[in-house]
Amino acid sequence: MSSEPYKNVYLLPQTNQLLGLYTIIRDKKTARPDFIFYSDRIIRLLVEEGLNHLPVQKQIVETDTSENFDGVSFMGKICGVSIVRAGESMEQGLRDCCRSVRIGKILIQRDEETALPKLFYEKLPEDISQRYVFLLDPMLATGGSAIMATEVLIKRGVKPERIYFLNLICSKEGIDKYHAAFPDVKIVTGALDRGLDEHKYLVPGLGDFGDRYYCV
Ligand code: PRP
Ligand code: URA
Ligand code: MG
Repeated sequence: MSSEPYKNVYLLPQTNQLLGLYTIIRDKKTARPDFIFYSDRIIRLLVEEGLNHLPVQKQIVETDTSENFDGVSFMGKICGVSIVRAGESMEQGLRDCCRSVRIGKILIQRDEETALPKLFYEKLPEDISQRYVFLLDPMLATGGSAIMATEVLIKRGVKPERIYFLNLICSKEGIDKYHAAFPDVKIVTGALDRGLDEHKYLVPGLGDFGDRYYCV
């Protein structure tokens, strides 16, 4: 998908395989080892889809048959930035595809009462303004945390069109708000949920991603 009003939003193909993976991680009976395993499979698909949208340049190589192959190679350098804590779960999926990729961290926590994000810490690669940035966070609920993290990146000189926000589940209102704030950022997601509950959790959602991946 990438059509108006969702220009720059790429929803993973809603295949039965993908639906099966989401069925497992959304099931409250799924225990942590399976939650991690199947989330990691979705994360890998998101990373691969993000890589599909990086710009390339023509590259011709000679094969062992002494013939030329008209190929492409990636232009530019990338880095990852995870929104701590839950976003850190997506770092390994990025590393599995991009060997020794640089990874920055932004610590943003939602206030449990108000659901408003608070920025505590950022540590980003020095040359981040020269890079394509894969921003990592599995959950987009109100959109507040992702917006705050994207503002940090832009303040550090990253161009919005070089940011790829990778996300497992987003709410309709969250994606609308984020997309309105940053129409040039590319959003790669696997699921679009119908809304938020009174605690600003995604519905149907899956509960607290960070708790399920790391703690419970
Ligand atoms: C979660 C999630 C996002 C944010 C989404 O993090 O990982 O960062 O909430 O909500 P929003 O779109 O309404 O801002 P949380 O602050 O709960 O911290 P955690 O990563 O430690 O679970
Ligand atoms: N954070 C989560 O982990 N889950 C939600 O549904 C919303 C924010
Ligand atoms: Mg949380």
